[in-house]
Amino acid sequence: MLRVEDVQRCSSVQESRATTDYGETLEGKTVEISVEVNGTTHSGDVEPRTLLVHFIRDRAGLTGTNVGCDTSSCGACTIHIDGEAVKSCTMLAVQADGREITTIEGLADGEQLHPMQEAFMNCHALQCGFCTPGMVMASVSLLDENPNPSEADVRTGLEGNLCRCTGYHNIVKAVLSAAGGEQ
Ligand code: FES
Ligand code: FES
Repeated sequence: MLRVEDVQRCSSVQESRATTDYGETLEGKTVEISVEVNGTTHSGDVEPRTLLVHFIRDRAGLTGTNVGCDTSSCGACTIHIDGEAVKSCTMLAVQADGREITTIEGLADGEQLHPMQEAFMNCHALQCGFCTPGMVMASVSLLDENPNPSEADVRTGLEGNLCRCTGYHNIVKAVLSAAGGEQ
């Protein structure tokens, strides 16, 4: 079995011909990782090429984090790693070893929705449920960085998240509402 640090040093671990510093090919190898997701530790062996979004969905069983594209452009897979929004399709599971992840399932406090979830509900900012988890996670991160954004700030801050049915207007209203601004 490989060590996590061996894999993290490889420049292109998604290619089976990638090798470690010791010339060892990654093909058919696994790495043991341990990741905390919504307060629960998930440990296990993964292939070096396993994307974090697949680890979250298939190993942790948290399917609120969606895969909406194969070009890292839709944002449906957005989660928080150590408090920062990240598109989990752009990261390998091994890169998350030892880190803390929050997904949409971990945002509410028991029955109490997160204020951003409340705002999305109150402003009718959700339609399909496919883009919404990523939108909410990106919006929470946006307000963490800028608690008092303008409408332009919100539109710019969410440009990495796509809604195929173009429901952006109410999404922007929801974020401004959660920030305490106009609806
Ligand atoms: S699935 Fe990650 S950006 Fe589309
Ligand atoms: S509400 Fe999800 S794609 Fe538009």
